[in-house]
Amino acid sequence: MFSPKLIASPDTLSNLAAVYGTPLYVYDSSMIRQRCQTLAAAFKGLPVKWLYAIKANDNPHVLKVIKDEGFGFDTVSFEEALLSLKIGQRPEKIFYTENNMTDEEMFAAVEAGVILNIGSYSRLEQFARLKNTRECSIRVNPQIGDGHHAKVDTGNRDSKFGIRLDLIPAAVEMAGEHGVKITGIHIHIGSGIQKPENLTQAMKVLLDIGRVLPDLKRINFGGGFPIPYKEGDAPFSITRFAEAASPLLKEELDRRGGDLVFHFEPGRWIVAPAGLLLTRVNTVKDQGRITFLGTDTGFNHLLRPAMYESYHAVVNVTRAGEEADKTYTIAGNICETGDILAEDRKLPETSNGELLALCDAGAYGMTMASNYNRRSVPSEVLIADDGTPKLIRERETAEAIVDRFLKESFFVK
Ligand code: LLP
Repeated sequence: MFSPKLIASPDTLSNLAAVYGTPLYVYDSSMIRQRCQTLAAAFKGLPVKWLYAIKANDNPHVLKVIKDEGFGFDTVSFEEALLSLKIGQRPEKIFYTENNMTDEEMFAAVEAGVILNIGSYSRLEQFARLKNTRECSIRVNPQIGDGHHAKVDTGNRDSKFGIRLDLIPAAVEMAGEHGVKITGIHIHIGSGIQKPENLTQAMKVLLDIGRVLPDLKRINFGGGFPIPYKEGDAPFSITRFAEAASPLLKEELDRRGGDLVFHFEPGRWIVAPAGLLLTRVNTVKDQGRITFLGTDTGFNHLLRPAMYESYHAVVNVTRAGEEADKTYTIAGNICETGDILAEDRKLPETSNGELLALCDAGAYGMTMASNYNRRSVPSEVLIADDGTPKLIRERETAEAIVDRFLKESFFVK
């Protein structure tokens, strides 16, 4: 049976909830580190350099752990690039994979010296026309997509991402006419890839395209490595994937030689299992057909179930180990019917005041959180490598959040 693993003992989690309050995101630094090291060891003897897609979890303390493991960062907005710079990441290790970037963002990125990865012909043209720009990377639409949900399949031919395959030669020529070399090519086929062979297939497409590009220094195959969220989800074996992908990389290296570097840029795989969201039950409500556990969090804090019907395992931390013989639906406190965090889950009989953990929430949890219903986002705690918990972000009080809102709205009381 799939049994969700808590990242810390129930006692530790209960103490954290008592000290810092709920809702509370908790992350485990040593697990994040370990997962980085697993990736770093996967492609032995090949020039693979790892990037971390910071959109998955961009708490500065989490970023620091991953940066210290030697990872560069994939960023998708100028703000993410700026955040990376401000926490000490070197510009040459920051990729800015743009989509529908504005001129201002482009100027700022060029000025900051980060590596631009351009995803449309028209943006490439504007970039190439700039004075003092000499090289960039381009994102290709490989016409092969995958993902845990249609909303995160980015590689299919109808997605908004990447330059159309048949436009690549013309795009490269156009850039060349302006004196700009295409030194990098990139794909990202989607998030939570269901069939790893789709990724290897898309890698082949990218490598084929690369054949016509004389100046390539880096080939980036994107992220998307899945994690198992529930029973029946196949775990993604990095070893097996590396075995399947290595011959492609070796062949390319033999062909091209020189200082070619390969990149992957996972987000979820590194941080998702290393984080959970603690929430307290405050209302037990029997609606006849469904018994709801009402909690102090909602889709404003963990959007994935509402947005993608994603599954997050739920554990009653207060009653860890007790027989799970009751069925509950876990509801949030947001004023929408769709604010359901988990449906029909087997849990021990649960009462008000008990603590639940929404597991595998380290990726795309806090980064997608909002102030909807004018509520604060949760606090965050990072359990350091030596086991010491550290508060790494503090929720706003009701007073603080409303005052900030009024100030930002130029409202004079
Ligand atoms: N590279 C690029 C260009 C991306 O757009 C993404 C994710 C990644 C890398 C990292 O993908 P990962 O390894 O984390 O799958 N909010 C959704 C996921 C959206 C991902 C968007 N792009 C979710 O909660 O499932």
